[in-house]
Amino acid sequence: MNNEKSGSEAILTVEGKTYSLPVVTGTENDKAIDIGTLLQKTGYTTLDTGYKNTASCTSDITFLNGSEGILSYRGYGIEELAEKCVFIEVAYLLVHGHLPNPAEYENFRQLLKRFALIHEDMIHFFDHFPPNAPPMAILSVMVNSLSSYYPEMSLDPLKTLDTAAARLISKIRTIAAFTYKKSMGHPLVYPRSDLNYCGNFLNMMFDKPVYPYTVRPEAVAALNKLLILHADHEQNCSTSTVRLVGSAGVNLYSSISAGINALWGPLHGGANEAVVTMLETIHQDNDNFKKYIEKAKDKSDPFRLSGFGHRVYKTFDPRGKIIKEACDDLLVALNVSDPLLDIARRLEEIALNDEYFIERNLFPNVDFYSGIIYRALGIPTNMFTVMFALGRLPGWIAQWKEQQEDPDSKIGRPRQVYIGEPSRPFVPMSKR
Ligand code: SDX
Repeated sequence: MNNEKSGSEAILTVEGKTYSLPVVTGTENDKAIDIGTLLQKTGYTTLDTGYKNTASCTSDITFLNGSEGILSYRGYGIEELAEKCVFIEVAYLLVHGHLPNPAEYENFRQLLKRFALIHEDMIHFFDHFPPNAPPMAILSVMVNSLSSYYPEMSLDPLKTLDTAAARLISKIRTIAAFTYKKSMGHPLVYPRSDLNYCGNFLNMMFDKPVYPYTVRPEAVAALNKLLILHADHEQNCSTSTVRLVGSAGVNLYSSISAGINALWGPLHGGANEAVVTMLETIHQDNDNFKKYIEKAKDKSDPFRLSGFGHRVYKTFDPRGKIIKEACDDLLVALNVSDPLLDIARRLEEIALNDEYFIERNLFPNVDFYSGIIYRALGIPTNMFTVMFALGRLPGWIAQWKEQQEDPDSKIGRPRQVYIGEPSRPFVPMSKR
C-alpha cells in the first residue's frame, strides 16, 4: 500500500526466547504488529475469536476511527460526501479511487443506463420462489446467477472489472425493485433512461399503471444520502466475507452474493429491519421503554437493543448522526409523521443516560434511524436490508478489486486451537 510505514518493532518473549516482530503504521497512525512470520518463527499462532484485535489486510479504501467517530472513503470525510455528492459519484470514488471528472461521470452514467435491464430469462426466476421468500434470499440468488449470464468475469476478472462493476451496481437496483413488485403481485416497472440512479429505483418500486408515481426530489436526495452512508465500512463481516470468498478465486458476482448472505444477519445489516420491529413492539406495548431497556441489560434475556452498539465505534456512529438529521428533514418535506421516530428518540435518550450503555460505550449505529427514512419513502420493512446491500455494493466491489490487485494476496485460511478428544483407538460398531 502507498502509505504503509514500518520501522519500529514489537518484542515477543515466549518459552524464554525473544522474537522481534515488525510494526506497521497506517496513514492515520493506526498501528499493527505484523505476525506474518510468527508461526514459522515461534510455532505459535494467535487466537482472536471474532477478530476483535486482528487486521486482515492493509487497505486504502476506507478509514474508521471508532473512538472519535470518524469515517472517510478514499480520504474524503463522510459528512462532505453525504452533503455534496450523489451515490453514483461515491460509488465511482470507491471503485476507481478518485472522484470522477465530468467525462468519467457521464461515461459511468451511460454504463449504468446500458446495464439497467436484467436478462428476460432471469425474470422467470422470481416465479419460482415461495410467495413470502425473504428478499435477501432472492437477492443473493439473483446476483449469483449473474455469473452464469456473464461468464467472462471469471475468465479475466481485472480486465472486465470496470464493466462488471457498472453492470452489478445497475442491475442490483433493478433486481431489488423487481423483487418488491413480484412480492406485491404488481406488474414490473422497467428502468427509464430519463431518470437518475435513485429516481429510477423509486419509480421502479412505486410506479403503477393506475396510479403513476411522482419522483420527489426530496425522496431522491434522502435515498442518495442513505446509500452513500452505507457504501463501505472497512473490514466488516460482509466485506470480510466478500474478500475471503474472492481470495479463493471466485468471480465477483458470486463473491458479492456471499457478502449479501453475511449482511442478512440481524447482528449486521439485518439490524435495520430488527430496529423497526423492536420499535413497533415497544409501541404496541404501551411505549414501555423501561421494560425493553431492562431486557437489553438482562444477561439471561437474549433481547438486545437493535441499532445500538458497534464493534468499532465507541461513540456516536457518524452515519447515525447524519441519518437522524435526514429523518427530520424528509418527514417535514413529505409532510409525514411517524410515531416510531418519537419512540426511537425517546429510547436513545433513556439508553444514553443509563450506566449499562454508558460504561459499554453503546451508542446508536447506522441502523438505528435508517428504517424511519425507508418507511417514509414507502419501502417495506422486509426490504430494508436489501437497501443496505444496494448501498454497500460499491464498497464490496472496491474491496474485492483491491484484494485481486494485491500481488501479495493469498487464499484466506485461518488456523485454530484444537480442544477436542486426544488420539484414541477406533471402536467397531459391535462394541459401541
Ligand atoms: C452493522 O462492523 C461494521 O462495520 C458493521 C456495520 C457496517 O457498516 O458494516 O457498521 C453495520 O452491522 C452495525 C451493527 C448492527 N447491529 C446491531 O445493531 C445489533 C445490536 N448490536 C449488538 O449485537 C452489538 O453491539 C454488535 C454486534 C453490533 C457488536 O458486538 P461486539 O462488538 O461483539 O460487542 P459485544 O457483543 O462483545 O458487546 C460488548 C458488551 C456486552 O456486554 P458484557 O458482556 O460486556 O456485559 O455490550 C453489550 C454486550 O452484551 N451489548 C449490548 C448491545 N450491544 C452490545 N447490550 C444490549 N444491547 C446491545 N445492542
